[in-house]
This record gives sequence, C-alpha cells and structure tokens, in this order.
Amino acid sequence: MAEKGAAAMVSAEEFLAYYLGWAAPARRAYAAGAAVRLPAAAATSGRVVVCGMGGSGAAGDYVETLSRTYGGSAVTVVKGPRVPAWAGPGDLVVAVSFSGNTRETLECAAQALSMGAGLVAVTTGGRLAELARRWGSQLIVVGEAPAPRAGWPQLFYSIAGMLQANGLLSLPVWDVEESLGLLEAERGRIEEEARRLAEWLVEASRVQIVAAEPLYPAAVRLRSELAENSKLASAASMLPEAGHNELEAWAALGGSIDMLVLDPGVEPWSSLLREAVGLVGPRRLYRVEAFGETLLQKLVWLTWLAGVASVKAAVMRGVDPYGLSAVKGFRRVVEAATPWGSGEPRAPSA
Ligand code: F6R
Repeated sequence: MAEKGAAAMVSAEEFLAYYLGWAAPARRAYAAGAAVRLPAAAATSGRVVVCGMGGSGAAGDYVETLSRTYGGSAVTVVKGPRVPAWAGPGDLVVAVSFSGNTRETLECAAQALSMGAGLVAVTTGGRLAELARRWGSQLIVVGEAPAPRAGWPQLFYSIAGMLQANGLLSLPVWDVEESLGLLEAERGRIEEEARRLAEWLVEASRVQIVAAEPLYPAAVRLRSELAENSKLASAASMLPEAGHNELEAWAALGGSIDMLVLDPGVEPWSSLLREAVGLVGPRRLYRVEAFGETLLQKLVWLTWLAGVASVKAAVMRGVDPYGLSAVKGFRRVVEAATPWGSGEPRAPSA
C-alpha cells in the first residue's frame, strides 16, 4: 500500500487507528495460515528457517521463542541474505517480506530453492509472490497495511497458523484464540497504557530496554518501533544474560540511563528484573507488566503496546511516525551495492 507508491501518505491518526484495529487483520491472517497444508516432504527434518528483514523479520523472532517454549520445530531466524549452509531437503524455509521486494529476503528464497529446501513465501505481493508462483512454491498472500511494521499481525499470525496446522509449532488453539480476543477486547487498556508509556518516552534519554528472556522478541520489536515510528534510539537486552556483562556498564552510567523494563509478572523474572534495576540505579525507570495469561498473550500484548506507544510518542515529539527516509535510502544502497536477490534464480534442484 502506501510505502510502495510515492503518492500515498498516511496521517498519524490513520496510522494509529490501524495499529488499534489489529484484531481484524490478525484473525484473518491466522485463518489463512491455518488453512495451508504443506506437502508431506516439506519439513520432515523438524528444522525451520525464517528469513526476513525489519518489520517482516520480527515475525521470526516470535516464532523462534514460542517454539522453544511451547515445543515445535528447531527455528533459526535469518536477518540477512544467507540461508544456513546446513539447510536442504526436508528443511522448511519461510521467506517473509511484506512488500515482497526486499533484496536480502529474495536472495534467501532463491538460495532455499537451489539448496532443495521447502519454501513458503509470505508477502503482500511484489517480486517474492511472482517468484513463488513461478517456482510453484507455497505462497501465503497477506493483507495490506499502511507499512510493513504495522502489518505484524498479518505476518506473525499467518506464519504461526501455518506452522501450527502442519505440526511444526505446538501452540494450543485456545491460547491463540485468547490472544486474538485480547486484541479485540482491550483497546481501551492499550490506549491508556500506551499514553503513559509515550509520556515517559518523550522525556527519556539513553533508553535501555531490559526484558526477561522469554519476552526478548518484544524488546527487540519495541526498539525497532521506537526507531521507525518515534525516531528514537534505544537499546534492547535481556536478563539473565545482560546481568553477566552489560549490567556493569549500566551501573557505571547509573544516573544517566533510563530503563524500560518488560516484566512478565511471574517469578523468578520479576525479582531478577527488580534486583538488576537496583544494582544500576537508573535516572528514570518505567516498568511494563505484560498483560495476559500465557507467553503468547504477553508477547502479543507487548507488541501491540510497542506499536501504539511508539506512534503516540512520535505525535508528542512532533515527528511523523509513518515516513521513513534513511531506511528507504539503505534499501537503495543494498540494491546498488550488492547482487542479492537480483539475478534470475536457479531452477529448483531435482
Ligand atoms: C517498514 C519496516 C521495515 C521493513 C523492512 C523490510 O515499515 O517495517 O523494517 O519491514 O525494510 O521490508 P519488507 O518488510 O517489505 O520485506
């Protein structure tokens, strides 16, 4: 939609309304993913590679963490142009690009095919859809959004549904339903919490996001949303790992660091986060307790919060949450400086 054409502009109000209305695209995407039946030979190894960049690649982070928690395939996330050398027949490569025109992801799709791996393309269209059709690969066409990052429900729920329906991700159906219900029922709650977080963010400097390890995909996503929507730089880390290294530097910075803590509200995580903050003594602290009963629901909640709060923070800071210039510039750099995804793909190996 808008990011593909020069003319279309999306106002901050429209952009915010899209994020607030995630429930409908999420439900449609889940149904579309769950309807996909992969060929029997597509993922016999139990290994899945999810390739994508930026707002599209984010979906892979969630699937990887969920599979480790709930059970399912061994998921490798690739945010670049290189499919792992071990991939081959019996492995499944999911190439995710909202626009369908991201060179790194096109390169991965072509590599997957020539390595003999199964390929599922997830996109709104573009060259990725064109190639998947030509190659006879599985294609999931997701609904449009004002921007790839705002299309997170389309990408995440379609991939989760597809993997779940094919025995590659052991997410309970009721849990997915609850997460969709949360997007339907909690608009008031998300708006209120997002407003409070945005008010904190506009006063913040040196924002260090710290999440409990299972919530790390949401911390990375929040960092990206703050960058793209609010034009704010931040860093994202997780405990316990950061407690073994980065904590030392945070403590040395002490009074000049603002900490944003993503807490699942369960032990031992809440205590670990509280004690780590105590060791740092940040200038300012904001603690988000994830809403929901399960890890899936908490991740969906935090992702929604990241989107809504980052758009609200942009408006409060007087910047345009929708427009991107440096990111688009870098896409052109990749197109000009690399051969990735540009050549005619090799035919699938027999
Ligand atoms: C833009 C955004 C970016 C893109 C990235 C890859 O809204 O979120 O991070 O997601 O440049 O592009 P696609 O998603 O089209 O493959």
